[in-house]
Amino acid sequence: MKKALYAGSFDPFTNGHLDIVKRALKIFDELTVLIAISPSKRPLFSTETRKEILEDIFANEKQVKVDTFSGLIVDYAKKNDIYNIVRGLRPTGDFDNEFQMASMNKHLFPELDTVFLTTGANLYFISSSLIKEIYQHGGEISDFVPTQVLKAFNEVKK
Ligand code: COA
Repeated sequence: MKKALYAGSFDPFTNGHLDIVKRALKIFDELTVLIAISPSKRPLFSTETRKEILEDIFANEKQVKVDTFSGLIVDYAKKNDIYNIVRGLRPTGDFDNEFQMASMNKHLFPELDTVFLTTGANLYFISSSLIKEIYQHGGEISDFVPTQVLKAFNEVKK
């Protein structure tokens, strides 16, 4: 079985991320969408909320597993016999950082490869921070996030 890992903060998960997941599922048999917990970040949504959102989004998708992890991505991959990482690549400055991260991960775990998927033409300008900013200023975000995320934003507001 061809397994892959798609890790991110997903604060929040966006339609850009969803597009990458859907396309990765055409390449891999099983995809773990992994919420990476970073001690240096102060997320808007708790780890539990982000996990619940992802589980809801992929409730009917047997190929997708949702998990959370604090630590090095390569350690999670090794522990779970995963040899591919999926990353989305936007034309908005992702390349240098992604190249560095892929190279470092390869150095730390030589059997691991990073597979890059370019983001959809109508999605490349989306980012989680921009969505939070637009929402906080009362703007419309429904074009950019799944309905489950929109619901979570409305819960935060209450
Ligand atoms: N469409 C739209 N937006 C996208 C996107 C896509 N396809 N892919 C990424 N983004 C956006 C995200 O929304 C996010 O936006 P923001 O910066 O405004 O919040 C931004 O791009 C960065 O997302 P991502 O690349 O997923 O970074 P991240 O910070 O969410 O996650 C990890 C990075 C978790 C993969 C990385 O830090 C990691 O591996 N950490 C674990 C520790 C480790 O192993 N470190 C060593 C690495 S060499």
